[in-house]
Amino acid sequence: MSGTTRIATQRLAADAAAIAKAARVLGAGGLVAFPTETVYGLGADATDPAAVARLFAAKARPKFNPLIAHVVDAAAAKRLGTFSTAAERLAAKFWPGALTLVVPARGDCAVCELARAGLATIALRVPAHAVAQELLAAVGKPVAAPSANRSGHVSPTTAEHVLADLSGAIDLVLDGGPTPLGLESTIVDCTGEPPRLLRLGGIARAEIERALGGPLADASSSATPAAPGMLASHYAPRTRLRLDVAEVRPGEALLTFGGARPKSAERAVRVLDLSAKGDLVQAAANLYAHLRALDAAGAEAIAIAPIPHEGLGEAINDRLKRAAAPRSREIPPPLGGG
Ligand code: TXA
Ligand code: MG
Repeated sequence: MSGTTRIATQRLAADAAAIAKAARVLGAGGLVAFPTETVYGLGADATDPAAVARLFAAKARPKFNPLIAHVVDAAAAKRLGTFSTAAERLAAKFWPGALTLVVPARGDCAVCELARAGLATIALRVPAHAVAQELLAAVGKPVAAPSANRSGHVSPTTAEHVLADLSGAIDLVLDGGPTPLGLESTIVDCTGEPPRLLRLGGIARAEIERALGGPLADASSSATPAAPGMLASHYAPRTRLRLDVAEVRPGEALLTFGGARPKSAERAVRVLDLSAKGDLVQAAANLYAHLRALDAAGAEAIAIAPIPHEGLGEAINDRLKRAAAPRSREIPPPLGGG
């Protein structure tokens, strides 16, 4: 399925039958916009890279930003991430609610790497909205959900806003009326001490500090850049990458696209195609798994054939460029998680 194909978007009042249908659509890899107490989210099965790739295509995001995994309760969240004492305290106080916690991802975290943008951390939220709660209970899996707007637009607080941006690009909108808060969740990074405020939102800083019994660190006051795209813990292969290759060198593995064979491709120690049929959405879904497989091939370097820049190609190229950049110090662990 191409990211540019237009599909008929259904809009349903969020009653029990519509929520059951939405859960089936999500379970089958579809895209469903749904209300939360903050803003409307655009949901996809967070464990399914093909569904998450379609989600990025629908939003027309130029980069694979990490997504928040929405779960029904704290117990489900703790199956995905490791909670510090501070994280436990914030979850107990504010969930369900407008708070997102960033914690280390568990080694067996079911959320796919594309949804986490290859980070060793995961953003988790338990929304309070009744429709979101019923939907998550019915799906029984984590749901990746960025705000349901096209990239660069403001977050939607009504089903009309969602349709204005995403009609023709998603399967279904559950209409639960205007969202009560109209402001995104507050994001707190609990991977260090003290926890760090990454985004102001529906829950005020003072409330969080009161619950913690001390001040939050500011994103800006830390040595770590706040933009997730810049984090050193993004997955990058240990093997060197060469981009836009016209010819494969001896000892290299080849990552290609659309069946393309650069010169001397036959000498590659291993060849993987992101999408033999040239589908950029499928390519995005395969990106992390293919990089890992080629990283394990013991090659001199991974040669990467040119990948078109249209649609999700822009985000794929952005990700590859970051993975290819020389690393000054920290080499991420081979399997990302932990
Ligand atoms: O209220 C909300 O949070 C809404 C509703 C739908 O839940 N969702 C939302 O998602 O605002 P989104 O994708 O528009 O914003 C999520 C933010 C992004 O800025 C992303 O970079 C950050 O969360 N984020 C996600 N995972 C992260 C991680 N592991 N570390 C740091 N930041 C992360
Ligand atoms: Mg957003």
